[in-house]
Amino acid sequence: IIKEIKYRTVFDSRGVETLEVDVFVDGGFGRAAAPFGAPGSRGEFEAPAYSPEGLDGSIKILNQFIIPSLIGMDASEQHKIDELLKQIDGTPNFERIGGNTSVVISTACAKAAADALNMPLFKLMAPEGPWSMPLPLGNVIGGGAHSMGPAPDMQEHLVVAVGAKTIKEAIKLNLMVHEEVGKLLEKRDPGFAGGTDDENAWTANLDDVQALEVLGEACRKVSQRTGVEIRMGLDLAADRLWDPEKKVYRYWREGCERTTREQLDFLCELIERFNLIYVEDAFNSNDYESFSALNKRCGDRCIICADDLYASNPERTRAGITARSAGAMIVKPNQVGTITGAHITSQLAKENGLKIILSHRSGETMDDSIAHLAVAWKATMIKTGVKGGERLAKLNELIRIEQSYKEMVIVQGI
Ligand code: PGA
Ligand code: ZN
Repeated sequence: IIKEIKYRTVFDSRGVETLEVDVFVDGGFGRAAAPFGAPGSRGEFEAPAYSPEGLDGSIKILNQFIIPSLIGMDASEQHKIDELLKQIDGTPNFERIGGNTSVVISTACAKAAADALNMPLFKLMAPEGPWSMPLPLGNVIGGGAHSMGPAPDMQEHLVVAVGAKTIKEAIKLNLMVHEEVGKLLEKRDPGFAGGTDDENAWTANLDDVQALEVLGEACRKVSQRTGVEIRMGLDLAADRLWDPEKKVYRYWREGCERTTREQLDFLCELIERFNLIYVEDAFNSNDYESFSALNKRCGDRCIICADDLYASNPERTRAGITARSAGAMIVKPNQVGTITGAHITSQLAKENGLKIILSHRSGETMDDSIAHLAVAWKATMIKTGVKGGERLAKLNELIRIEQSYKEMVIVQGI
């Protein structure tokens, strides 16, 4: 039973003020803090982070309506709590209270309930199992809306150690690739000053093909040293590249534009040339058809993933399933506003053969709940960066989970 709810604002990894909530129940406590997407990278169709009056407006609603209604409720009744949040909000997509406001309440209640039952969050989320360990997908070279100065046009150049047998090994291999890329960048450009982006990926004066060349070389070196297969991927976050007036994708750093057709061909070429295993948000988030075209051409050898296209939203996911737009989707709880909402979307995706990937935001906190959701919902991968305390908070939690539950193994053959 929820006895008390406290809140405060704290700062996320980008230094932006964000909401943190503590939920106290009989014999338990749960704390959650909200992550934040970057302006220019957050999806058009995701729930807004806060109320139209901003964080202060959300706090007012929290005080006036949310906290008084939640006191006395059973924190383990996630559906009821999340339904109440929806009712208080009264809009289709948390436009009044904000997805961040609702997601911290939803998550802190879940954590408090798990704590009272003295069990890890993933076990509360999926009591019967089976659980599984996700493979970490990590951002090594950044660009786009997450970077300053001259940098690649695409937002993320990613790695995943597909041959890793344990979570610890997988994390370590991503870190080794990150370190190797730093060395290669220094060698390549004496002016390289070691800059990193919002997610602690390297940011350097490269175009996207050059970034993949450097990343590919680093992967090869680490693979040779360790004997483990490591593959590359991309998150284009293509909304930011898209010019809706001219109907072209603009590559500022590369100094060119691509029509939708050219974008499709370009990506197919990159998938072939670099043996990419993963491509996220390759087109703007209104273009289901081009996602489908790419999925049709390359979906057999590369995971075509929808992030901003589906925005963790069940209706948008359903539309994408009908159009066969992707082989995988990103799940970010604050895009849809509650644990229940994220769970419904995840179930829908999996029932229709889509892989799910639990994901951080570019602005993060030390909150590690996505690690538990990934394990409970059998996510194929977890996308949470390679380096930095707020990224490693999630990955280190997976190491703890693996230690306690040795039967849990990485899903092989993603
Ligand atoms: P965001 O970026 O958190 O800034 O939206 C992450 C992503 O696009 O995957
Ligand atoms: Zn994305």
